[in-house]
Amino acid sequence: MKYFKELELSAINRNIPIMQREGLEFMINVFKENNYHCCLEIGSAIGYSAMMLVSNIADFKVETIELNDERYLEALENISDNNLKDQIIIHHDDALQFEINNLVLNNFDCLFIDAAKAQYQKFFEKYMPLISSNGICIVDNLDFHGMIFDIDNIKNRNTKQLVKKIKRFKDWIFDNEQYEVTYHSVGDGICVIRKRVT
Ligand SMILES: C[S@@+](CC[C@H](N)C(=O)[O-])C[C@H]1O[C@@H](n2cnc3c(N)ncnc32)[C@H](O)[C@@H]1O
Repeated sequence: MKYFKELELSAINRNIPIMQREGLEFMINVFKENNYHCCLEIGSAIGYSAMMLVSNIADFKVETIELNDERYLEALENISDNNLKDQIIIHHDDALQFEINNLVLNNFDCLFIDAAKAQYQKFFEKYMPLISSNGICIVDNLDFHGMIFDIDNIKNRNTKQLVKKIKRFKDWIFDNEQYEVTYHSVGDGICVIRKRVT
């Protein structure tokens, strides 16, 4: 892939959050093992994870939604520069306001939630019904740099609120009988969520 390593470094240098390589490799393996072909991503940033997925999995497509103006434009440029427009469809919108009838692909095998952490449950409730019955949802950053295990000692008030919200989502999904959840301490903590077969 054209300037892929540079893209990763450029994101890190500009504090643009992108998925850690270890987490991406894990996700790629899960998608390959399950023979998945179509992913809906919430939070594209500059298109890094979407480009990694389509470049490493045969016959794979991603439809992704990004809220931020500059990141959306940069993602568009990166996708186009790498000739990946046939495999990645990107929308510029707030995923919570986005009209789902505007999605282009269907038969999504996986939902990858990688946007505003305080809204994980809302993203999940809105988009999980679009995922096929044998599909999964992947959620990243559930450890929040380990802070989730030591909330009482977080000094910054905003960070503490955010970490509490992440923990609330984690507890909610683990207690939800409709879903089977496996936690993987890869990268910053990844959950794989499947609909329970009844
Ligand atoms: C962690 S970054 C995504 C990284 C990307 N998945 C990757 O690994 O290359 C999260 C992105 O979600 C976007 N975002 C936050 N809230 C959003 C929302 N409600 N709808 C769509 N995008 C959102 C942010 O602007 C940010 O670029």
